[in-house]
Amino acid sequence: MKLGVFDSGVGGLTVARSLQRSRYFSELLYFGDTARVPYGSKDSNTVTRYALEAVEFFNGTDVDALVVACNTVSVVALETMQKFSNKPVYGVLEPGVMALEQATEVNHDSHVLVIATRSTIQSGEYQRRIKQLGFEHATAMATPLFVPIVEEELYDGAILHATFEHYFSALERPDVVLLGCTHFPLISDAISEYFSGAKTIHSGEAMVQWLSQHLDLKRQFEQTPITIHASENVDAVRRVAKRWQLSL
Ligand code: SIN
Repeated sequence: MKLGVFDSGVGGLTVARSLQRSRYFSELLYFGDTARVPYGSKDSNTVTRYALEAVEFFNGTDVDALVVACNTVSVVALETMQKFSNKPVYGVLEPGVMALEQATEVNHDSHVLVIATRSTIQSGEYQRRIKQLGFEHATAMATPLFVPIVEEELYDGAILHATFEHYFSALERPDVVLLGCTHFPLISDAISEYFSGAKTIHSGEAMVQWLSQHLDLKRQFEQTPITIHASENVDAVRRVAKRWQLSL
């Protein structure tokens, strides 16, 4: 199976890496809309329009299915994409919540902090699903500044730490941080360190697990080549892919 992977920028590479390592897929075709990132602070009509342009791009390719490796798009535009796509489209929200449910050392008394873009938090989707699972102590916080910080490759240092202070200084230490934006795994070590070793959860591995449960997949490919497209500055996307140890 050849998979398309769509994100607003470089964040979806964190999902692509897990897909590449799974050996389930013959090939990956990545598209990051780097010319228009971030999506998470934009109006839902705008995000839906961008998402439909991505559908048009992938409709013209030979991928068998499309993974939306962007939480904002998964929350705002997944159903519309599914309506207009000529292949199945899978979002990242459900796998992310599944990963929280299945995480070791996490129970219903754990203090869960969900961080994501403004659109994702405002949709209330994570909060609703986490509550449904029986977690009693969940805090949801929009942390949109992390998206441009990651796009600028500032994975550590003064700007990132000032932003941690800006968002988190008044918070009680969480036991687990659910990274509700695919950009955030690129700073997950720094987040965990800020919160004295709190567990972080992201949807990359969960996406693989979720797809393997819903599709008839076999671990059969020695290699999964990835082709990277971007609406601008494709070299920067390739650089992040290398840093994130994807094999190009
Ligand atoms: C963004 O483009 O603002 C981040 C995308 C996401 O929500 O994963």
